[in-house]
Amino acid sequence: MDRLIREAAALLQNSTFTTAFTGAGISVESGIPPFRGEKGLWNNYDPVCLDIGYFLAQPEKSWEVIKQIFYDFFGNARPNQAHRVLAEMERRNLLQRIITQNIDNLHQEAGSKKVFEFHGNSMKLVCLACYQEYSFSPALLEKLPPRCPGCRGLLKPDFVFFGEPIPQEPLDAAFDAAKKSDVFLIIGSTGEVMPASQIPPLARQHGAKIIEINPQESNYTKSVTHIFLKGKAGAMMEKLAEILFPPSLEDN
Ligand code: APR
Repeated sequence: MDRLIREAAALLQNSTFTTAFTGAGISVESGIPPFRGEKGLWNNYDPVCLDIGYFLAQPEKSWEVIKQIFYDFFGNARPNQAHRVLAEMERRNLLQRIITQNIDNLHQEAGSKKVFEFHGNSMKLVCLACYQEYSFSPALLEKLPPRCPGCRGLLKPDFVFFGEPIPQEPLDAAFDAAKKSDVFLIIGSTGEVMPASQIPPLARQHGAKIIEINPQESNYTKSVTHIFLKGKAGAMMEKLAEILFPPSLEDN
């Protein structure tokens, strides 16, 4: 594994445009369960709660599950070492962009600035009647389904439901990154969900070197990945950081 870590670190050090593509796996060590796999949320909850048609037809039932998963569960999660290393890489100009499928806001809380959220963000709610946006606060969810304080319209989390389009800005940023990245770092994704899952193969087609971090193989590992760092995000990013951020003289 150390040889692979060294090879991955060398690619990252020599890259002029590096993109990190993150999935639910990067937030597992922050206490947020993934969607798939043995402890996956979809083993205990029906993904229909995130289907836009179901949400509009049964807002109260949908909101009961959404509140449990994304607000009660996720609420007090904090960034872990993997998020922090990515933020430090950005500060040192070793990372140019993060495309995340996650809605947990942990990249931003770790200090990353160039983050594009392919599936939106759970920290904002939007009124489906007057389009007023609200920052999440527990008070908004005291009564379900939550109503707009301004017009009493139905509030929806500002993340992408199944059956909804990907917002244009992150979609463009993702395809742009796939075209111009020298190195593409996939962290913690099964590669199950379109259209996000077509981004890494596109990066490979455009000549990017693909590094993947995951404790298990994914849909990318055999067909897209060049360097597979088999392990948890925190530990693998820590090993990369030991090479990428050598202690400088003034640190001693
Ligand atoms: N470190 C790194 N990867 C991990 C860790 C960890 N500690 N723990 C689990 N993983 C990996 C799993 O092996 C799996 O490959 O994270 C991945 C999680 O897969 P998914 O739950 O399918 O997450 P993701 O690929 O992001 O799902 C994509 O599906 O339900 C939708 O909108 C939702 O954005 C989500 C999308």
